[in-house]
Amino acid sequence: MPAFADKIIAWQKLHGRHDLPWQNITDPYAIWVSEIMLQQTQVAAVIGYYTKFMRRFPTIAALAAATQEEVLQSWSGLGYYSRARNLHNTAQKIVDEFSGNFPTQFDDILSLPGIGRSTAAAISTFAFNLPMPILDGNVKRVFARHFLIQGWPGLPNIEKEMWEIASRENPNEEAGAYTQGLMDLGATLCVRSRPRCEACPAMVTCQAHALQQTQALPTPKPRKTLPERSTIMLLYLHANEVMLQKRANTGIWGGLWSFPETDAAPDNAQMLPKFTHTFTHFKLNIQPVLIQTGNQPSAPNTLWIGLDEAIHAAIPTPVRKILLNLKKKKAA
Ligand code: ADE
Repeated sequence: MPAFADKIIAWQKLHGRHDLPWQNITDPYAIWVSEIMLQQTQVAAVIGYYTKFMRRFPTIAALAAATQEEVLQSWSGLGYYSRARNLHNTAQKIVDEFSGNFPTQFDDILSLPGIGRSTAAAISTFAFNLPMPILDGNVKRVFARHFLIQGWPGLPNIEKEMWEIASRENPNEEAGAYTQGLMDLGATLCVRSRPRCEACPAMVTCQAHALQQTQALPTPKPRKTLPERSTIMLLYLHANEVMLQKRANTGIWGGLWSFPETDAAPDNAQMLPKFTHTFTHFKLNIQPVLIQTGNQPSAPNTLWIGLDEAIHAAIPTPVRKILLNLKKKKAA
């Protein structure tokens, strides 16, 4: 057993998290859903969505039988919606190609859409007790510090080096406690700014700690300023109903309901407060405009829907913000 793993396992048992809703279970479907939700999203934000999602889609068969609309509605607000579309498509694939049973072999799990090497390893470890190494963002931070890996972890050669460390340090026994321990350490102690090294079980062997380099590691991504785009969102309103338009499956907010967009506001439009929504790769300046109409004109892929119902539909967060502002404005 590598010495590093020993420390992580002992610490996890005493100080790690043991009562998250996706722990103490072995259903690979439930573990899969949790791992997808936890990609790029923190535990606190996930818990409520996870519980509701599992109640609504308790099995692979239930998820496969749902419409994309229902799945996206349950995901609405979590972001990175390709995760939800992949989850839904993959459930259907499991029904078609694995008789509805989640595959038990690592290579089969890895072959599923939306499941990369680290996620496949986490599912294998938690559901099937197969000790495979993980390497997500939190683990990269722990490794960069403990093993003093310089260079942005998104670079292929740095990532390769970290996978080698992940394999080398991965224990054959108690892989579940080790994997959870790495995740817990990264989320609770070895955090990005002001890590709590005094409480860390690996402080005495941490090279970044010894060299006072914890703040500098992991090496950040070379930052370009984010490109900006601008759009005008058309908020058609009639008799307390608004018009929503279903977006194409590709591109931002694929498959969600949003407002029709344009480059130039029509003359009869009333300006609403503009704001900026930041994505990973660009900033979107949004100018919402209100157009009160005398009837409910139709357009391709659109529907008219009550304001309150719209707020709970499969819509992106900025659209929900605009609808909530409109509701407040009408109440005032
Ligand atoms: N992040 C990714 N997987 C996780 C898990 N199983 N528990 C807590 N955080 C996680």
